[in-house]
Amino acid sequence: MPGSVPASGEATWPKDVGIIALEVYIPAQYVDQTELEQYDGVAAGKYTIGLGQARMGFCSDREDINSLCLTAVQRLMERNSLSYDTIGRLEVGTETIIDKSKSVKTVLMQLFEESGNTDVEGIDTTNACYGGTAALFNAVNWVESSSWDGRYALVVAGDIAVYATGSARPTGGAGAVAMLIGPNAPLAFDRGLRGTHMQHAYDFYKPDMVSEYPVVDGKLSIQCYLSALDRCYSVYRSKIQAQWQKEGIDKRFSLEDFGFMVFHSPYCKLVQKSLARLVLNDFLSDPNPNTESGKFSGLEAFREVKPEETYFDRDVEKAFMKASTETFVEKTKASLLLSNQNGNMYTPSVYGCLASVIAVHTPQELAGKRIGVFSYGSGFAATLYSLRVTQDATPGSALDNLVASLSDLLVRLDSRRKVSPDVFAANMKLREETHHLANYIPQGSVDDLFPGTWYLTHVDDKHRRQYARRAPWIGQFDHGDRAHPQSGKEDAVTITNGEH
Ligand SMILES: CC(C)(COP(=O)(O)OP(=O)(O)OC[C@H]1O[C@@H](n2cnc3c(N)ncnc32)[C@H](O)[C@@H]1OP(=O)(O)O)[C@@H](O)C(=O)NCCC(=O)NCCS
Repeated sequence: MPGSVPASGEATWPKDVGIIALEVYIPAQYVDQTELEQYDGVAAGKYTIGLGQARMGFCSDREDINSLCLTAVQRLMERNSLSYDTIGRLEVGTETIIDKSKSVKTVLMQLFEESGNTDVEGIDTTNACYGGTAALFNAVNWVESSSWDGRYALVVAGDIAVYATGSARPTGGAGAVAMLIGPNAPLAFDRGLRGTHMQHAYDFYKPDMVSEYPVVDGKLSIQCYLSALDRCYSVYRSKIQAQWQKEGIDKRFSLEDFGFMVFHSPYCKLVQKSLARLVLNDFLSDPNPNTESGKFSGLEAFREVKPEETYFDRDVEKAFMKASTETFVEKTKASLLLSNQNGNMYTPSVYGCLASVIAVHTPQELAGKRIGVFSYGSGFAATLYSLRVTQDATPGSALDNLVASLSDLLVRLDSRRKVSPDVFAANMKLREETHHLANYIPQGSVDDLFPGTWYLTHVDDKHRRQYARRAPWIGQFDHGDRAHPQSGKEDAVTITNGEH
């Protein structure tokens, strides 16, 4: 092919490029989904069992996309004792747009000012929930390219996922995930193993520039998600089998080759159905499945089904949900901790699932595993790729540090403040009415924010935003330490995203 680079170029690439550190930020308040069912007047169980959601985190008018990303990035830098001049690229993935020109990335550059480092490539990337993955690919590609200058890349995915009142509202959430990218990573990208599918559809989009809410065709979005999953899985399978063949391995790929499988999670039930969908894919692609015993037992009747006719086929769904029950528990259930407790965060959702897997396993349980990652963003763009967990799980290893840094996730989830559905609804209304205003001072409480959280203090008459940060809790930045919601009374620093 003209212009193609011979595979020997690979020899000069740095080794094991991937995720070295990972930081999750979640808002300090949530609404309970059982209480929301009652408040919305829907049947008991619709949100909790039907969608699989327990709690939904949300932001008051004190937080916006800039503050979420400031908090996640600074927390990652501090907890890993990194100085800002070690970063050569910073990428942002978000679909929470508050400025049609100025990027979130440029706002984050304020964190770099003291270090004097302005030589930082990267900018924002947007396509619904896929922006974080596109940003991550940019960072990994940079480290593996001739442009790389030997420094780390940083990726932050953040969003405030809010819907108008109605059936989509319980599938909201908010948060940010920051990731440190470089060589010798405990979670290394499998090279050449990305199955991508992109297509045009109006399943979820945000055409109204003054509204935070999307226009959603819920059923179409599920169909697009599942069809993208089928296509990405099939491309991934072809690529990994081709790699194996080159290495002289004659083997058919299946879900069994993933130690864990994480998905973009709009709501947990869809993820469970998606795992079942992959078992359906394995079954249909197997030239000679054993339907007498084992995981495909009793599935003979589905041998001739066409995947594109089964997105809403109850019989297929039920049979493969049953067939995949154990696989779900083994490979995917643990990834849904954050999604179940905090809701959909849009771009960080799939990385919240990755963080959950790491948070609830020991380094020894993770070591050597291959993790499948499916990222989906409406519109639509999707990729299924894989990460290889390092074999080194010894105390003090990079993997041990990564696991320790996420060990406080459950405690942080439990230390949030529960508010009633009417307080949640009032906050949504306040955001609706004020999120785009100039000359605005937010009304939300600052004391309720977690220590170390950046928050909006003022939007001036030219829409320039100013921020301050709650003082971090003393000791918060040690690995494994627990954030304490009641500490950090003083505002530590103030910055603006306009002129200084
Ligand atoms: C997902 C979405 C379409 C669901 O809204 P909806 O149409 O009102 O919900 P449904 O009537 O389908 O109910 C949801 C589920 O709860 C189940 N359910 C309803 N009442 C129930 C009850 N009392 N107890 C238990 N389950 C119940 C339904 O059977 C359904 O399950 P199923 O999907 O297995 O059929 C909506 O929340 C949405 O648009 N979300 C945003 C878009 C999105 O997240 N898309 C995903 C792909 S990106």
